[in-house]
Amino acid sequence: MKKLLYLLLSMTLAFSLAACSGGTKPSSENGESQPPSEASVESEESSDSEMQDESAKPANGAGDTLIAYFSWSGNTEQMAQMIRTETGGDLFEIMPATPYTDDYDALLDVAQQEQRDNARPELAAQVENWDSYDVVFVGYPDWWSDAPMLIYSFLESYDWEGKTLVPFCTSGGSGFGRSLDKLPDSAPEATILEGLHVSGSSVEGAGEDVSDWINSLNLD
Ligand SMILES: Cc1cc2nc3c(=O)[nH]c(=O)nc-3n(C[C@H](O)[C@H](O)[C@H](O)COP(=O)(O)O)c2cc1C
Repeated sequence: MKKLLYLLLSMTLAFSLAACSGGTKPSSENGESQPPSEASVESEESSDSEMQDESAKPANGAGDTLIAYFSWSGNTEQMAQMIRTETGGDLFEIMPATPYTDDYDALLDVAQQEQRDNARPELAAQVENWDSYDVVFVGYPDWWSDAPMLIYSFLESYDWEGKTLVPFCTSGGSGFGRSLDKLPDSAPEATILEGLHVSGSSVEGAGEDVSDWINSLNLD
């Protein structure tokens, strides 16, 4: 009976020693079979979010890019948002102090008259922290084969020295019209890069074009 007890005791001891002497790997080496510690979950989560941040990282660094746009019926605004997705820049809506009419036919006349007058409609607001931006995308719809006069009001309100201006435009088909030739007069010190025009009816599916265009600008 005593012998049997000794045998049982020595077997128990042998099992305990085996368990303590490296018979199991540290949890860091066999993570699959061990539940992760709270700390390791946290670090996995933070590295995941770092990766997401990395993939969403703006091409040319957040904080130095402004996307200023005017949009009457939403197409140019949509394009501005795509540019924001690509660059991580700040959006600024260019608006007239006196809003344009909602009536399309009436607007055609108003826009044409502004062009004839070479008007500079008053702006509703100014960009804060203008000095902090290096790259300024400027977007507008084509109105009568030109930019809305409001865009020239905007351009002429700021000092463009040291700034890069990137135009973009939506239209019914005419593209930038005369506006590209006129931009340097209103932003004489700006470095003007190649712009992108998208037809208003194609804005929805223009994400890849916008992305390719921005990559081609080498803004980094
Ligand atoms: C007053 C006015 C004038 C326009 N003139 C032209 C034009 O000359 N050529 C053209 O292709 N589209 C013209 N369009 C169409 C707009 O450029 C087009 O619908 C644009 O995508 C609208 O952009 P938005 O939605 O950002 O306002 C005109 C639209 C308006 C309201």
